[in-house]
Formats: sequence, structure tokens, C-alpha cells
Amino acid sequence: MNLLDEQQPTDLEQIVGLSRRGFISAGALCGAALFMGGNLLSRSVLADGVSAASSPLLGFESIDAAIRDTLTLPPGYRASVLISWGQPLHTGGPAFDPSAKGSADAQEVQFGDNNDGMSLFAFPDDPNRALMAINNEYTNYRYLYPHGGLPTSAEDVRKAQASEGVSVIEVQRKGDGWQFVQDSPFNRRIHGNTPIRLSGPAQGHALLRTQADINGSRVLGTFQNCANGKTPWGTYLTCEENFTDCFGSSDPKQTFNAAQKRYGAVAASKDISWHPHDPRFDLALNPNEFNRHGWVVEIDPFDPQSVPVKRTALGRFKHENAALAQTRDGRAVVYMGDDERGEFIYKFISRDRIDTQHPKANRDLLDYGTLYVARFDAGDNHPDRPKGQGQWIELRHGKNGIDASQGFANQAEVLIHARLAASVVNATRMDRPEWIVVSPKDGQVYCTLTNNAKRGEGGQPVGGPNPREKNVYGQILRWKAHNDDHGADRFDWDLFVVAGNPVVHAKQPKGGSANMTPHNMFNSPDGLGFDDAGRLWIQTDGDDSNSGDFAGMGNNQMLCADPNSGEIRRFMVGPVGCEVTGISFSPDQKTLFVGIQHPGEKGGSTFPEHLPNGTPRSSVMAISREDGGIIGA
Ligand code: FEO
Ligand code: CA
Ligand code: CA
Repeated sequence: MNLLDEQQPTDLEQIVGLSRRGFISAGALCGAALFMGGNLLSRSVLADGVSAASSPLLGFESIDAAIRDTLTLPPGYRASVLISWGQPLHTGGPAFDPSAKGSADAQEVQFGDNNDGMSLFAFPDDPNRALMAINNEYTNYRYLYPHGGLPTSAEDVRKAQASEGVSVIEVQRKGDGWQFVQDSPFNRRIHGNTPIRLSGPAQGHALLRTQADINGSRVLGTFQNCANGKTPWGTYLTCEENFTDCFGSSDPKQTFNAAQKRYGAVAASKDISWHPHDPRFDLALNPNEFNRHGWVVEIDPFDPQSVPVKRTALGRFKHENAALAQTRDGRAVVYMGDDERGEFIYKFISRDRIDTQHPKANRDLLDYGTLYVARFDAGDNHPDRPKGQGQWIELRHGKNGIDASQGFANQAEVLIHARLAASVVNATRMDRPEWIVVSPKDGQVYCTLTNNAKRGEGGQPVGGPNPREKNVYGQILRWKAHNDDHGADRFDWDLFVVAGNPVVHAKQPKGGSANMTPHNMFNSPDGLGFDDAGRLWIQTDGDDSNSGDFAGMGNNQMLCADPNSGEIRRFMVGPVGCEVTGISFSPDQKTLFVGIQHPGEKGGSTFPEHLPNGTPRSSVMAISREDGGIIGA
């Protein structure tokens, strides 16, 4: 879900679907574009002096931007659909019904909508079998319901809740491709009404108790599941992001306290509107239900009977993803972003070490540990790619000014209201932290800061890792823990890329850093993934208007970067109206799974089936090379 503000079209709006040659001819259109020739030349050499064509990691040709309703890939690559929204998970299950759109019961046994983050879990004894856990973030009412509008009944709401959550599926390699296994006993839906256990320090707290759950220990459902994490002990982490949008109030005059406001409670539910038909989401009737969402949920994909667990020790906010690392002494580290303008980046460190010999011994590891928030210094204000230092501040009751005087009675409240605690310690307000990933090669951590049109307004100063006022393009932040220890309190940071449009805006700040070129320019970096060789894959969820500030960028896309040279090439362009989000690799690195979310969000797409007047369907795509080689090499 992209929250970019509407942009005003400019004179360059006509520059639609430009090829590289198109940029040249468009250069005659206006004075601004006359800078372009020089831009092309200067940007053929990257910031650190590495030639744009020299990367040993990137073995494919960067492709042009596109506005087609299809998946575009470099020569020699092909794609197939692994699974799409509405596909029945079991034989005999209800088929996807593009006209009546099916029932809530049907959706509970079908692949969910709007697939997002995903992880692949290989079977230890068979390299040709794997399970995939795949988030289903939200749904599109224009396609979910025959009436195409807001829910009009309890059945409508239950259907929306059923379309969200997580789908666990088995996949098998057959011939030279991977396929969904419809009959697998591992196939499972976890959705907006699935029983889930609350655990960790906030479990049982008064703020988590409701009439339906007087112990504050068992909640119905996970929804708005954005991105993900994969633990070294073989479990899946699904992250609850825009949960606040699911709540509203039957009392239009209801007032909210500071914590509720900070978490976005409003009487009029934005666009989702469950509360008129499901009292659980009515803040006037069930205010504490609001506190039971916004957590990281742990799932064991290999046990279809297991009850998912909300891990409160990791804090409550709009979780984007969860990136796992380890301290030097073997404790688990979880890096997490809170995707809202001006919110924070967090780190959790477990109290105990990971038991690498006995995976099941780690089942409660994420219940005990310490939550930190990041504070960045102002850095060197370098005009291209600034750098500086930062530190992690502990969010513990009784430390760093977090105590009753600030409204925190105990540690449970620090976790339930992590945003407020982080503000007490003066954490750095970021440009919407999205995905975080850790390099398998050198342990550097990368985080997409997708955009922030409000940067520069009150309380969000320009500078440090958020260097641009009214930041419509976003940037990718990188940091390295001191002593190469993810347990260290301090780190060095720099900006890996500052996205921009070097054709429309020849110079910084809106032209982007030197590794943005007319050939790879993009906006709103979001999904991230590393492959085993250390290539950094970048997915976008941005303005795909292809006009104004975004002229020439085309549809949302996926790029691939060499973290050492800084070079970035465009690898894939998605269909009309989609965002590209979710990434996994087969164990042999020869198949890349990519999520295409909400194609045709505003109409104009029939992806992927391209039937006449067909319904577009969010899908997981399997990408491979025609010669069977390693992806990206
Ligand atoms: Fe679900 Fe912040 O993206
Ligand atoms: Ca986004
Ligand atoms: Ca995202």
C-alpha cells in the first residue's frame, strides 16, 4: 500500500513509456531535459568511480521502464504463475469465482489476496520440496465483492478478513520449474479470525483483555500482514502493519487518548469499514481489541495444527518486516521498521542464545529479550550520499526516562505503546521505514525509507539519513554494527542510494544520488532481499503515474544492486497498477519467487490471465533462466 501524496502533473507528463531512445527525443521537449545529455555522461561513472558496466555480480542487461500490463524481464528470463488469489488450497475446494466472487467460507480455504512478504522453507531431506509461507496483506473491495464497494454485511466483513493473513503452501520442483502442490497436508490458511496466542511480557495485561478474552491471552486473527522474517530455527514471522485502518467507532464523537491517537485511532474507519458489521472492530464497544494487533506473529509452517503466537516482546507498531541476525555470542537479533511517516527503526535482542542443535528449544526465544530504538546523528551532510553514526537506545521501564512520570506503569505498557516510549528517548523520526535486510556477505544492514512528503514539517527535521524535504522518492539506508557485532550499541550509517529522477531534475536533491541514472531510476523502494551471492534486490511500491516527478519511471518494478560498487540495474517491471513485493529464492538460486500485489488497483489490468474483461489477481510469480542458470548472474 503506497501512501505517496498525489503529485501535480508537469510539462513532462507526456513522457510516457519512454525507452532509452525515447529519453533522447524527449530531451527536445523542454529546457529541463536539456540537462539530460550531461547527466547521462556524468552518471555513467558511479560515486565511487566504478564503471557502470563493470559489476562482476550483475550478469544481465538493465531493462527499460515500461507501462505494459505484463511482467517484463531481461532477455533469457521467463516467468510463470506459482499461485494466484482465490486458488483453492485443497482438492475439491471452491474454485476462484470471478463473477460472484465466492463466499467467506470459500475464501478461508483459498489462497489469500494481495500477497506480500514470503519465506521458503526447504524440506531437509528432499531438495525438490519446500513449504512457502506467504503473507496476504489486504484486499481490494472493487474485486472482492460483486458490489465493488465497502462491506455491506457481516458476511462481507468476514470475507475480507478471510482474504487476509497468511497462506502456507507446499511447492515442488517438477521438471525445470516449481509448482504449487494442491493436495499437500501442509497447505493452510491463517486469517483474520484464526485463534492466535498472545505471549511475552504484555500477555495478560489489562490493556489486552476484552470481554471475549478476559485473560488477555488469546486473540482472533492476524490481518494487514505486510512483510516477513524467517528464523534460524525454521519458523516464519508475519508482521501486522496497517491494522489501525481496520478499526472505527460507532460513536462519531468518541475521543481518544494520546496513545490511541499516536496509533491512528479515528472514529471513521479509513476505506476498510469493518466496525459497522463486526463489533470487535468498534472502538466504542471494544477499545482494547485495538491493542491486540500490531505485533509480530510466529508460525511453524511444518506443523499445520500449531497455534500462531503474537510475540509482544518485539513491540507494537505498524510492523513492516522482521530481519534476523545474530550477536557474536549467538543471541537472536530482529531488526524491524515501523512504516509511518516520522516513525522509528527498532532492534530486538533475545536474552538467550539460539540453540542451533535443537530447533524446537527456541520456541520461546522471542518472548525474552530487550527492545531498542535507533537514534541517528546528523552525519556529514554529504550532498550525494551522506554518512554518520548512530546508536541503539534501550526501551526498558525504569531506564532512559521511561517510567510512570511519562505514563508507563510497567514494561508491558512500554511494549504496547512502543512508539510513545521511543519518543521519550528521542529516537530519530524516519522517512517511513519499510523492509530491512542483512547482507549474507558482510553483515551490513539495509533499510528502505520509502518516501515522506511531510519531511521538513514540524518535528521532522531535514538531515542525517532523512536528507530531503518533501521526500517523494525515498532512499535506502545502510548501517554497519560496530565490531561487526549486531549486539553492539553503536553503528556507522550511510545512504546506499538516494532515489530521484535525474531526467526531470538534473541535480540533487530531486535528481538522486550518482548511482541513479536515466536507465535505472525508480521511486519508493520498499521490498528488499539478498540472494546467496550478495546481490541486493530492490522492489518498489511507488507512484506509477509515469508523469511529473515520476516521468519515465513506468510501472512498479524490481531492481538489482551490487552492494560493493553501488551499481543498480532494472531487472523486472510489473504489470499495470501493481506493487512488487515479496521475494524468495529456491535453494539452488535458480528460481526467484516474486510477489505481484494488487495489479489493476485502479483498473486497467487483467493480469495474469489476460481474459477478456478478466479480474486481475495478485500472484506469486516464479522466474527462471531459459538456460537454467543462477538468477542475476
Ligand atoms: Fe505493507 Fe509498508 O508496506
Ligand atoms: Ca510501501
Ligand atoms: Ca511494503
